[in-house]
Amino acid sequence: MASEKTKVGVIGCGGMGAAHVKTLAEHEAFELVAGCDINMAALDSLPPGVARYQDPEVMFERHKLDLVCLILPNHLYEPMAGLACVHGADVFTEKPFGHNLESCRAMIAALEAAGRRAWVGGQRKYSAHFRTARDILCGMQPDFIHALFTYFWAPAFADPGWRGDRAKSGGVALIDSGWHVLDLLSWLVGDPVSAFCQLSYLKSHPDTDDKAALQLRYRSGAIATVTISYTLPKSQLELTFAAGRESLLLNYERLALFEGAQETMSVPATRDEPLFRWMYDELVKARAGSPAAYVTDMYRAERIMAVVDAAYRSAASRRKRRIARPARRS
Ligand SMILES: NC(=O)c1ccc[n+]([C@@H]2O[C@H](COP(=O)([O-])OP(=O)(O)OC[C@H]3O[C@@H](n4cnc5c(N)ncnc54)[C@H](O)[C@@H]3O)[C@@H](O)[C@H]2O)c1
Repeated sequence: MASEKTKVGVIGCGGMGAAHVKTLAEHEAFELVAGCDINMAALDSLPPGVARYQDPEVMFERHKLDLVCLILPNHLYEPMAGLACVHGADVFTEKPFGHNLESCRAMIAALEAAGRRAWVGGQRKYSAHFRTARDILCGMQPDFIHALFTYFWAPAFADPGWRGDRAKSGGVALIDSGWHVLDLLSWLVGDPVSAFCQLSYLKSHPDTDDKAALQLRYRSGAIATVTISYTLPKSQLELTFAAGRESLLLNYERLALFEGAQETMSVPATRDEPLFRWMYDELVKARAGSPAAYVTDMYRAERIMAVVDAAYRSAASRRKRRIARPARRS
């Protein structure tokens, strides 16, 4: 009897790929058939019995895959998604969906032409208290949003690897770290219409953005300020949504609702949530056509990438105003 499980392969089994391999190997809806990585050592993340390849073409030729998961340097999503299209597989990529808006759109065009679909990772929104926040925000029209996302990524200072090469990553603070926040905002309150952004760059890699300060405006007139850095010691993710006297606070620890300064509700975060498992649960629903599934699909990914694109363009073209120095006085 033919297996009803989704036959899946993973390309990029090291780094973040290992978490995807583990989740897929344990998930009853998937049959992890094969893994591929140019680095042999990275293939050790695959459980016994799963075929191992260093060449994705060979993997696709030997296995009829329903889905391929791409956990790769960002610039490789487009060519690997192209390969998946040729071989009739749907695609799941880690965030971001490509290394720029052009590559994102090229993937969508190729997938549509091949009758295939893609979805994009970003695990944070699967947290239970984030889902509750979404239910609350559906009935709230925020007029002001503040989002802060910081953590410390040590390799930034020594060797950021492919992330330090803009041609491969497309950037870091905004497109890589920032994607998490922009995905959350897109999911929680919809898509903004304009962006203004300022960036700072690593001293050792002057092309690599390490901090971003972004302002977004929504069609409703709401404004958002978003601050992102991966070179700050404290790991924080905090979002505040304000609508008149009401506000909602969301962070790693909890969700809280306020009426003025008065706290009216608090929902603690659940510890050790299987976020990757839940992400793949949603992917299963999405592939089955459920409109309720909230995994980021390729069209929402394009809208997120359009924000990233506008933000990088804004940062590149900003008109600075010099602040006058104190006048010299004798
Ligand atoms: N969701 C998250 O929180 C999160 C966290 C980290 C990374 N990511 C995303 O995951 C992706 C990968 O990031 P990472 O940190 O795991 O990178 P990484 O460099 O640690 O791992 C990439 C893997 O891809 C393999 N690879 C490179 N070129 C290849 C090729 N041509 N064919 C096959 N395999 C190849 C490498 O050998 C390596 O094993 C990125 O898009 C990144 O944005 C997401």
